[in-house]
Amino acid sequence: MLALLLVLVPTMLLAQTGPADCKKHAIDFIMVEGDVSLVSIEDGIRMDLKRLGITVTPRFLSKEDFNKAHETGDFHLSFSETWGAPYDPHSFASGWMTGDEGHYHAMANLEPPASREAIFDMIQDVLQESDHRERETKWKDIHNVLHQQAVMLPLWGKRVPTVMNNRLTGYQAGLQQFDYPLHRLQVLSGSTTVRISPGAQTGIFQSVGRLDPHTYRPNEFFANNWIYEGLVSYGEYGQILPALAQSYNVEPHTNGGQKYTFSLRKGVTFHGGIPWNCEAAKLNFDHVLVEPLLSADYHGWYGLPQQILEWSCEDSATFVVITKSVYYPFLQELSFIRPLRMLSPAAFVDKDPVTGNSCHAGWVDFTSLENDSSIICAGIKNISGTGPFMFRSRTSSTNADGDVVDDEVLFVRHDNYWGGASQVEELLVVRYDTAEQVKKALLDGLLDVVWGSGVLNAQDLIEIESNEETNNLSVFFSNDVQNVLLLLNSGKTPLNDITTRKTIIHAINKVRILETEMGGLERPVDNVFPLDAPYCDVELTPRWDYDIEKAMLINCPVQPELPNAKSKGQNSLTPGLSIGLGLLCVILVIFALILFRRSQKYKKQLTEMKNSEAESA
Ligand SMILES: *[C@@H]1O[C@H](CO)[C@@H](O)[C@H](O)[C@H]1NC(C)=O
Ligand SMILES: *[C@@H]1O[C@H](CO)[C@@H](O)[C@H](O)[C@H]1NC(C)=O
Ligand SMILES: *[C@@H]1O[C@H](CO)[C@@H](O)[C@H](O)[C@H]1NC(C)=O
Repeated sequence: MLALLLVLVPTMLLAQTGPADCKKHAIDFIMVEGDVSLVSIEDGIRMDLKRLGITVTPRFLSKEDFNKAHETGDFHLSFSETWGAPYDPHSFASGWMTGDEGHYHAMANLEPPASREAIFDMIQDVLQESDHRERETKWKDIHNVLHQQAVMLPLWGKRVPTVMNNRLTGYQAGLQQFDYPLHRLQVLSGSTTVRISPGAQTGIFQSVGRLDPHTYRPNEFFANNWIYEGLVSYGEYGQILPALAQSYNVEPHTNGGQKYTFSLRKGVTFHGGIPWNCEAAKLNFDHVLVEPLLSADYHGWYGLPQQILEWSCEDSATFVVITKSVYYPFLQELSFIRPLRMLSPAAFVDKDPVTGNSCHAGWVDFTSLENDSSIICAGIKNISGTGPFMFRSRTSSTNADGDVVDDEVLFVRHDNYWGGASQVEELLVVRYDTAEQVKKALLDGLLDVVWGSGVLNAQDLIEIESNEETNNLSVFFSNDVQNVLLLLNSGKTPLNDITTRKTIIHAINKVRILETEMGGLERPVDNVFPLDAPYCDVELTPRWDYDIEKAMLINCPVQPELPNAKSKGQNSLTPGLSIGLGLLCVILVIFALILFRRSQKYKKQLTEMKNSEAESA
């Protein structure tokens, strides 16, 4: 009897303790193969979730298959990141609505009364809000509703690193991911030629591409941004700064849209001396916004092309644009690095946007004028904008993969730059095969600057930073320009259940993962968007903090040891310890039982004794 108890009770107790009682889930985590830095983060997340009985299986996909999985919603967990300034929050949020990307699917099963469609309506609505204060309130609501749904877990903010030789000074962070304002640097000693290895879309630099302002890859943002400028530029906290327009005025238009009047900056010249004026502005708009290019395959990925009704010159220094409806991000979108930056009129193949459009000759479907909706993409004749640096020359070669790459690209300063000629006379972009070579060149003083992410890893940056006293280098970081997120796909079971999503969120120890995997260089964030982005500095509750007890409570409902567990965020009782305590209880109970029975027996004996005494008396 006693032996049976000793075996049975602990077994029952064990069944109710720790991970054994947690709801078991098996989910997948898709990742692009070869992304070394994210793999270690995924590793950390997987270990955290294992403690709760959630088995995560990583699926490594080619870039193409990864995109396909996002398009079809075939994933449980996936990394994502905001687009950063100047796209946050409105372009990124608008992107969710296109239906063929991960966020769209992640938002499939929201808790009523919220729904994906309701959130999309809120986004559409705020885009048309003309009052600044109202926009603030509306964005706040969007951030809050989305936050409650636990479909996007903000992980960390990405900062843009810069390593610079101390012979240069005057570092100022760029305001977009690929904005590297080298023209603001001062040269304290040595050559006025600055050698740079920039972070590119390819990570380590490969090629600056065609350097045409009106199309996309393989053009690189950072190089185009040195050469070409737009009407306005993006400033801190989403301010709109004057650029090729010195000022602007916005007023309602009788058609229900708005009239933007841009007073163009005077005395500005393109590289090569052609003057900037309204005819140049109009020519650029004519080419970029020609009808066949407005579709989603070309420039229709953002709002502005569909919003513009017409544009014209009031005089040679006044450019007028009329929009179809109120669209508040209009100016913000004019600050994008492409496709509406200004090319010198001398660089167009043809003034006519139909017979010789500035779109790249490789763009499909536009090679003949068979019908009314065709144009001819003729590319550009010269690389010439108004920016602080001009393209001079390049030396190219073919790399091991057979791709044409640039070994060196030389830019020279634009002496007549309206913002003042740079102290840097020449900017030499140098390609290295590996990060080790980049680091060595920096330490040897052969390379002056590394600007941008994806070149040096966290360990290298930490090492360089900690030896600043002796290596003549300085390391700088921008503010968070983009946030990295974890998508939790509510469109796929078991993540359709918000309790599962909350369990996952509370089980992930961001601080520890960032500390161990990224050397603490990146900091955890609580909001989907960087706080610097317009309308994004909002307080969101409840905080999606690491809270393993809460996660256990949600996912492992019967938790006898939990009420007595220790302070928040600390380890709760380990299974071994609770089994031990359970056993101790059982033994004590049995001991008490035995004592009790013994005392009963003793009482009985006592009574019997008394009775027999009485009888004998
Ligand atoms: C072409 O651009 C270069 C600068 O990149 C400039 O020096 C040259 O004068 C331009 N040519 C014309 C015809 O504008
Ligand atoms: C006109 O040309 C475009 C692009 O080449 C093509 O997509 C479209 O189907 C054509 N339309 C007609 C009516 O032929
Ligand atoms: C650092 O700069 C000083 C002064 O220009 C120079 O003498 C020294 O050799 C440099 N050290 C390194 C490691 O480049």
